[in-house]
Amino acid sequence: MSYTTVEAFTGDFTLQEPLTEDAINAVTEVMRSGRLHRYNQASDGLSVVSRLEAAYALWQQQNYCLACASGGYAMATALRALGVAPGDPVLTNAFTLAPVPGAIESVNAKPILVEVTEDLVIDLIDLTLKASQHPGSVLLLSHMRGHLADMHNVMQIADAHNLTVVEDCAHTMGARFDGERSGNFGKIACFSTQTYKHLNSGEGGFLTTCDKELAARAVVLSGSYMLYERHGAVPSREVFDSIRLQTPNCSGRMDNVRAAMLLSQMQQLDENLRRWNERHAAMREVISASSRLVLPNPVESSVRIGSSLQFRAPWLDASGCQAFVEHCLVLGVELKWFGNPTPVAFTSQHGSWTYVEPQDLPKTDAVLATLFDVRIPLTFSVEDCRHIGAIIGEVAARCE
Ligand SMILES: Cc1ncc(COP(=O)(O)O)c(C=O)c1O
Repeated sequence: MSYTTVEAFTGDFTLQEPLTEDAINAVTEVMRSGRLHRYNQASDGLSVVSRLEAAYALWQQQNYCLACASGGYAMATALRALGVAPGDPVLTNAFTLAPVPGAIESVNAKPILVEVTEDLVIDLIDLTLKASQHPGSVLLLSHMRGHLADMHNVMQIADAHNLTVVEDCAHTMGARFDGERSGNFGKIACFSTQTYKHLNSGEGGFLTTCDKELAARAVVLSGSYMLYERHGAVPSREVFDSIRLQTPNCSGRMDNVRAAMLLSQMQQLDENLRRWNERHAAMREVISASSRLVLPNPVESSVRIGSSLQFRAPWLDASGCQAFVEHCLVLGVELKWFGNPTPVAFTSQHGSWTYVEPQDLPKTDAVLATLFDVRIPLTFSVEDCRHIGAIIGEVAARCE
């Protein structure tokens, strides 16, 4: 196959923006101080991590926030704080990334996978069925690739079956449903600040909640020792009194160096969310001109942050999908194919999580079979995003 109309793209899909000078100065200041550990404070003053927690709680419009080692750690901590026991069922979407079933496995619970729709959100019919089979369980709802379900309907189903909802907001920091921030619907929300997320500290995460007892448990679980009063967004001392000696320490704290990068980045967060959406809209507009490619429709009242874009090529079989990826790569566009039977890089295929009991998910399998993913780093301009969209459209026109 040869391409005549579109030039190859030469940008780097793995390249995130560098830290700003302000962030570098903030990190350097921490390193110069020698006080890298969150509890290594001379006085009663708040550490950088604690100040970050206060700032994030305010931005997220949530009462309590814990900064920790990763998004995966936040999810495992949420499940522990809720008292999920070995063998307990935990519902989650079948289309998510491996850290989600991984968090469930880390507390020896049993992932029950729920189908996803063509719009890449949890299937409410299958959720209702599985919720009725496992009443009183936890739903770890992963807003995979930023697609938000109708959260009013999800919460209605959860309430009807006494499910406790934990939101995995690794891809929805800043997204909203019906005006409310993603993460403020369930009991607990978990965020990631790993390199490809909306805040980037290489590794890191947040757990937020409005429940004071869950917040206290999460803080002690994260490894606060008896120093929890030095946190920036925690409930009062009395809340800790009843749980502090009964709650194990499973260290996963954030350090002051990462926190300094994040605290500084928070100043650009809203503007960066806008920049992502501008780029996503440009790429989406070009791709939507292709009559062959199918883009997921946003659920009404949801506002997504477009740090990646997904589309389906429904006419292709498996070898056609593989060829699609290869042709795009020749033109400099890196795609991920979610239907790949061989796990490559980040795994999102439930079949490749062999530690999870195999489950019958025909709807999800049909969606993933021809689903592709493009990362949108902010190092790309709006014009770059149009260029990438044009390449994808051109390959789609020629790939049989
Ligand atoms: C959907 C989803 N949930 C959770 C996580 C976990 O985040 P972390 O890498 O910080 O553990 C990721 C990470 O990429 C993710 O993609």
